[in-house]
Amino acid sequence: MAESKQTGMSRVIAIANQKGGAGKTTVAVNLAVAIGETGQRTLLVDVDPQADATTMLGIDPAQHKHTIYDVFTGGCEVPGATARQAAPGVDLLIGTERMSDVEVTLAGQMMRERYLADALAEQIADYDVVLIDCPPNLGLLTINALVAAHEVLVVLSMIDRNAYKGAMALLQTTSELRRKGVDTTLAGILRNNVDRSRQTYRALNDALAAHPELPLLHAEVPMRAEFQNALTAGQPLLVRNPDHIGAQALRDAAAELFDPPTAQRKAA
Ligand SMILES: Nc1ncnc2c1ncn2[C@@H]1O[C@H](COP(=O)(O)OP(=O)(O)OP(=O)(O)O)[C@@H](O)[C@H]1O
Ligand SMILES: [Mg+2]
Repeated sequence: MAESKQTGMSRVIAIANQKGGAGKTTVAVNLAVAIGETGQRTLLVDVDPQADATTMLGIDPAQHKHTIYDVFTGGCEVPGATARQAAPGVDLLIGTERMSDVEVTLAGQMMRERYLADALAEQIADYDVVLIDCPPNLGLLTINALVAAHEVLVVLSMIDRNAYKGAMALLQTTSELRRKGVDTTLAGILRNNVDRSRQTYRALNDALAAHPELPLLHAEVPMRAEFQNALTAGQPLLVRNPDHIGAQALRDAAAELFDPPTAQRKAA
């Protein structure tokens, strides 16, 4: 397990791709549940002003006194803005559309890339895993997530011809951060919206195969309407339909990320 910058305990992973609709939030929420199922204490951080991870867990930020907005603006610490057991085994640092104001005010501040890292420091010792769901851009909130995380999981939509470009831009940003001394590595690339019959899928796979140095996960998340249905129901697919093939794919991805020897035995 990677060593934490903050606590020496938790593994912090940002789930990112500047491309909109790649499936970041779907993966973040369901992966969090898959990790929670293995008994690891998991915190999902919703830093995106769209607050889709929060909605996907059926949580209304208006019903909570504090959200991640207050964490960024000094109104409370992480536990005060955390919904316990938002899904089985998963706590949620509640997102809100007010985070779009934070993005604007951060721009004029000192140490503006480190707000989330500093807010999480000392506060996440109780968690084995922290997943951060990023917005679809490389703005300051995403940079905050990348700085707070030790690792990045890139979600690629295999029905999007331009998916590769977005992922490469993100990888460039992470290597720029590394040059500036921010210790961030690539945890993996997870293929989402997989339909093997599509030409786009094959073309993207060929592009990935040309870069064997990239940590492409074996697990692939199939394109299935049930993901959308679960979203509408305000429940992760792993909760709504735990035996679904898509749910199993997220468990396989979790196993590869968190228990590589077991996953490799399975894949062999
Ligand atoms: N494997 C899948 N199969 C079918 N639909 C999917 C799959 N993954 C995601 N979706 C659907 O695609 C849409 C976008 O997914 P999601 O919100 O997870 O993407 P995102 O990358 O977080 O988007 P944004 O960039 O806006 O944050 C949602 O309607 C979701 O239900
Ligand atoms: Mg999202």
